[in-house]
Amino acid sequence: MIFHTRTLSDNLGLEILDLDLSNIDESSFERLRALWQQNPLLLLRRQNPTDEEFLGFSRRFGEIDVVIGGSRPSTQNPELLYVSNLSTSDGKPIGGLGNSELVWHTDQIYRENPATGSIFYGVEMPPGTGKTSFCSTAAAYDALPTRLKNRVDDLKSICRYGTKKPLSSLMRSQIDKTWRRSVKSQEELKVIEKRTPPVSHRMALENQITGQKSLYFSPNHTETIEGLDHDLGQELIDELIENTIRDDFIYIHDWRNGDIILWDNARLLHRRDSFDNTLPRFAKRTSVFMNPNYFAVP
Ligand SMILES: [Fe+2]
Repeated sequence: MIFHTRTLSDNLGLEILDLDLSNIDESSFERLRALWQQNPLLLLRRQNPTDEEFLGFSRRFGEIDVVIGGSRPSTQNPELLYVSNLSTSDGKPIGGLGNSELVWHTDQIYRENPATGSIFYGVEMPPGTGKTSFCSTAAAYDALPTRLKNRVDDLKSICRYGTKKPLSSLMRSQIDKTWRRSVKSQEELKVIEKRTPPVSHRMALENQITGQKSLYFSPNHTETIEGLDHDLGQELIDELIENTIRDDFIYIHDWRNGDIILWDNARLLHRRDSFDNTLPRFAKRTSVFMNPNYFAVP
């Protein structure tokens, strides 16, 4: 089956126009996976899967992760995470991440084996607000000056979940905004470091099938670069951020109910606008360990 598609922006994003997620045969699935290999972000609109259908669809890409910072699992199924600002009648949040702005990041880079496939189902999404921006680190890699490409190709970074100070000049300039990973005390830092010790990742990833390369770093988790002293590492991280977070590499998504976005954290950064907390917003998501036979995996 050849899908009808629509590009969402020049550098990333493809909408698949005629696909019902709850009914995808094997050859259609392979075609869909091939499109995701080419494009770091796919959008399906007007979807209405049951939880089982949504989980079954996610599992076709790889094993589903059950733990992620900031999100809350459904009480029925720990593979399904709820992202919401809503609360139960006795005041308990039903989902994670509230209504605040979420600054540029890539999910799970602080883990040794991150589940890099995010599949996000917007069930009730207030239009025109709480938009999610995605930035292609594949487009950014391609546009890098050769000098920087050669430099990052062989580098590894050290990433951490919790840090005492904001990392990168971008995060320092946004200190007044939500700083979700700030650590209050040395004791808290020790607990975090024990649970998620610092990890090392290659800074340039390559998909072995398509040859597509992408930068892999996160402005709030990538702390230093192996083999460089701290200040030189920060300078390089800042330079990469400047070369990456550019309007022409960004697609901003205004959610509608029934939207499903598949995004690859190995090739994208993302951020979310804040929204008025009186507006109900509710989404379900899965995080998938992507199959390295098809996708670049950190
Ligand atoms: Fe995220």
